[in-house]
Amino acid sequence: MSDIEEKLSAFSKRFNCDLQQCFPPVNGGEKRVVEAMLYSLMNGGKRLRPYLLCECASLFGVSYETAFPAAASLEMLHTYSLIHDDLPAMDNDDLRRGQPTCHIKFDEATAILAGDGLLTYAFEYLSNALNIRPEIRLTLVQMLSSAAGAFGGMVGGQTLDLYAESAKNDQNAEPIILRLEEMKTGRLLRYACEAGAVLGKAPLDMRHTIVLYSRKIGQAFQIADDILDREGNPALVGKTLHKDDSQHKFTFVTHYGIDVARQKAQQLIAEAIDIISVFADHAENLQNLARYIIERNH
Ligand code: IPE
Ligand code: IPE
Ligand code: MG
Ligand code: MG
Ligand code: MG
Repeated sequence: MSDIEEKLSAFSKRFNCDLQQCFPPVNGGEKRVVEAMLYSLMNGGKRLRPYLLCECASLFGVSYETAFPAAASLEMLHTYSLIHDDLPAMDNDDLRRGQPTCHIKFDEATAILAGDGLLTYAFEYLSNALNIRPEIRLTLVQMLSSAAGAFGGMVGGQTLDLYAESAKNDQNAEPIILRLEEMKTGRLLRYACEAGAVLGKAPLDMRHTIVLYSRKIGQAFQIADDILDREGNPALVGKTLHKDDSQHKFTFVTHYGIDVARQKAQQLIAEAIDIISVFADHAENLQNLARYIIERNH
């Protein structure tokens, strides 16, 4: 294991324990939906977004304990996006994080409700985080809802993803794929980083640096995801491969071809490493994480 994989793994152990504690016990008939929420939430996952959030917060002296509610709510929201992404009406996937997807393990209606439950509980949990000052909490709620939503956020990006096939032959295909990525994946990764800066009351120029870093790694992250779908190791990826081709998706790989896509991802990561180097020694984990984003095998 590389240094960053060990760090991520140690972080995940601690984070997973705390995450499990966020959920009150339920005994009534609604227990089924909570089981489905926890099934998907606790079922592996690299925890990249919570790690990024805590690591960016720590650049400004914010402790893990203070950052945790923001990190936990983000992972809940991310998991909701995966449950719905896998539904038959969307990508129709039966494998996620190496396990049956939520709608296969439970049923479609329960998976829809589990996604709804995680999305709403994310905001309930974040807005109840008494260890974060009210004005910062409100800013985070505003930022997270905007990053996740239809107006330039993840839901908008997922909509573009579903109907982008015709863009393949468009003369403006490159701006279309860039916008698709920015909304579908980029906004939540940007939120992960920017929320850390907001928690730490970072000066505007430093917050800007963090956002620039997040955009570079966000694009590289989606390129890596698209490459893994095409040529990942099925035993490691934990998702059904070749879905993008079989569903005629418009991706970085279909647009650039695999070699150029890989070069672009490497270039983006070199830029991200350079951008974040203004934080000197404190940036080492974020630099290693940037490398991991394109070197990962799942
Ligand atoms: C997968 O995200 C979905 C995309 C946004 C492309 P991750 O690769 O971070 O998935 P987990 O959380 O580790 O399973
Ligand atoms: C999904 O993108 C992104 C979100 C869930 C918002 P993909 O459809 O490429 O993700 P995977 O490959 O199924 O994880
Ligand atoms: Mg999808
Ligand atoms: Mg998918
Ligand atoms: Mg994918």
